[in-house]
Amino acid sequence: MTPKPTIFKELPADIDQNRLPKHVAVIMDGNGRWAKHRGLPRMMGHRRGVDALKDLLRCCSDWGIPALTAYAFSTENWGRPLEEVNFLMMLFERVLRRELEEMIQENVKIRFVGDLMALPASLQAEIERSMAVTANNQGTCFTVATNYGGRQEILQACQAIALQVQQGLLEPDAIDETLFAKHLYTANLTDPDLLIRTSGEMRISNFLLWQLAYAEFYITETLWPDFNRAEFHRALSAYQKRDRRFGKV
Ligand code: IPE
Ligand code: IPE
Ligand code: MG
Repeated sequence: MTPKPTIFKELPADIDQNRLPKHVAVIMDGNGRWAKHRGLPRMMGHRRGVDALKDLLRCCSDWGIPALTAYAFSTENWGRPLEEVNFLMMLFERVLRRELEEMIQENVKIRFVGDLMALPASLQAEIERSMAVTANNQGTCFTVATNYGGRQEILQACQAIALQVQQGLLEPDAIDETLFAKHLYTANLTDPDLLIRTSGEMRISNFLLWQLAYAEFYITETLWPDFNRAEFHRALSAYQKRDRRFGKV
């Protein structure tokens, strides 16, 4: 497939194209509260949340943001009522099947990170198919964190590295940040520049613990299903006003 030319559709005039984040991460929170405020079951919030994510992906694609990573399901979310967990698994599978064709058209490369083996087999199959058919796409790299936990990710990296040491393939001295990062699920991605969390919660909830070391945080009270292009524009404006020092002066 020939990659689409890079076009920056409708980038707001006050946003500097040369200082866009290269990687945006998002904790999509507040679906349940969004539904509750409307007297609806939580599931409706999750459904509307999918639309908000679709919009954000489209926006990243239109504005030339190379990578978007979204937190869809944490290792702790298994602790929710079974009905909600089952609904979410079914929703992920259905949405993936429904949206794959459009993602192919949009040249999106989709990836899933997390402990995927614990997911329902039919969802795993859909995930594998979507990753395989979009693997060579050159557009926005869209990573979905599903059954993802930052601590779990770090532990599996430690185990993989320890095994290499045990087998005599690696010297402990050779374990540096670069090597360690290569054993994380996000090995091929640059660290996020911008983390967005909706619903006003001021916490990281076990998301990308290693990778967010120097990300700029943008927290909005808006509940995830209401997050839209105007909100993303505000997040980018705020991001471009930040002074990123990386520990320097
Ligand atoms: C985020 O919304 C979606 C997932 C965690 C799957 P929530 O379901 O956490 O919504 P609130 O936080 O209960 O409002
Ligand atoms: C974080 O939201 C996980 C996802 C968005 C998938 P939670 O709603 O699970 O986080 P807490 O429980 O408020 O920390
Ligand atoms: Mg929540």
